[in-house]
Amino acid sequence: MTSFQILYQPRAVIRLLTVCLLLETAYGEDNWINNLLSIDINVSPIDEANKLEVQLTVQNNVKKCMVVEVSIEDNPNITFLSAHATYTACICSLNNYFWDIQISANTVLIGKAEVVTTEDICPDDEDIFPVTSYTTTVSHEILVTT
Ligand SMILES: *[C@@H]1O[C@H](CO)[C@@H](O)[C@H](O)[C@H]1NC(C)=O
Repeated sequence: MTSFQILYQPRAVIRLLTVCLLLETAYGEDNWINNLLSIDINVSPIDEANKLEVQLTVQNNVKKCMVVEVSIEDNPNITFLSAHATYTACICSLNNYFWDIQISANTVLIGKAEVVTTEDICPDDEDIFPVTSYTTTVSHEILVTT
């Protein structure tokens, strides 16, 4: 029984390690491409009913800068009190973006961060992350108050 274990355990251990390594590699690559950016939305009321300040927080999860377009999707129930701006910025760590809106009916806000290849946004010497298309969104339901 003892010799049986000595003979077969190392092979089992190696097989287990191989499986772990493969899983880790597969998960790691998937993770890498799915989490370039994190986006978060925060909605806070401004004095009057149904007027809100929307904050999108975009975080760069890799150690290289990216040019990112940050926007809020338009929809008929939202009126932009501030300009309905789409921001284009070089995001190297974490940036915040703000819009003032008013809603006329219950709706779902959708915030979007898209990596773009616009030149002359990031400083020349910044190390730019090589990606051609990547978009992440966040949604937030808002109910009208009467
Ligand atoms: C806008 O409000 C109307 C009326 O409540 C609703 O039916 C519709 O789904 C809303 N649209 C969006 C995009 O939220």
